[in-house]
Amino acid sequence: MTEPTAHPAGTAPGTAGPAAAPPVVVSTPEELSALRPSLGRIALVPTMGALHSGHRRLIAAARADADSVIVSIFVNPLQFGPGEDYQRYPRDLDADVAACAAEGVDVVFAPTVEVMYPGEQLVSVDPGPMGQVLEGEFRPGFFAGVLTVVAKLFHLVRPDTALFGQKDAQQLAVIRRMVRDLAFGITVLSIPTVRDPDGLATSSRNAYLSAEERTSALALSRALLAGADASVTGPIGILTAARAVLAEAEAATPPVAVDYLALVDPGTFGEVTGEYRGEAVLAVAARVGATRLIDNVPLTL
Ligand code: PAF
Repeated sequence: MTEPTAHPAGTAPGTAGPAAAPPVVVSTPEELSALRPSLGRIALVPTMGALHSGHRRLIAAARADADSVIVSIFVNPLQFGPGEDYQRYPRDLDADVAACAAEGVDVVFAPTVEVMYPGEQLVSVDPGPMGQVLEGEFRPGFFAGVLTVVAKLFHLVRPDTALFGQKDAQQLAVIRRMVRDLAFGITVLSIPTVRDPDGLATSSRNAYLSAEERTSALALSRALLAGADASVTGPIGILTAARAVLAEAEAATPPVAVDYLALVDPGTFGEVTGEYRGEAVLAVAARVGATRLIDNVPLTL
């Protein structure tokens, strides 16, 4: 553990400008517990590292809501299926700590797999029906893995608030539901999806894309935009407009292989039909080369 640094009197943690102190980096629950009494109201930003501008936006929102910000960095094996990218998932703790320092993060919690899962994990959190559809269908076990690690992080960090991106809309909804159904007593906050200037939603997995694949991948955000532009026409019009963009992308080089395009109720992630009016999420998942991407846009119908 590196030495904790006191915040200058009257200065909120993380607001000290360019000379902000580096975060304290800890890797065990014991080190976290020792720090906890000095941290006041805690906002937690759970991450798997490879921090990008979307994470930075989350951290900035976290700072506005708490005395101290803790960023957890842990590539969670439980949420990767066989053949997924667990081994090659980008890992660069020094770069992540530097990004946290630049954002005025107070504590980085970067446990090892042995610390998070010291023995066989016999008990896990069941995401229920919301975890079986869309991402849950294409990535069996994914949401149980996410909820199990998030529940564990919540118990270890004991934050007042936790922040997640709208980019992973189904993950956000399932976490909100766990917090509600299992009475965690934590406020879950979200921030809108952060996009690169070309429209691609920021994601650690974008680093896998070649220049050509990235060009093809832009069809995802274009499809969502086309769907959003058609929102006055209702569910069928929205899906038809978005599908037309994806159909072109499926024929492009390199092709976009669509896993799903769905218009869902943000509370349940059940698909909405014909006469539905109210809040909805238009969600898409697709593979470009070896990279799987997801994106979504919230709509009011
Ligand atoms: O969104 C992520 O980065 C991960 O799913 C999370 C929430 C940190 C759990 O491992």
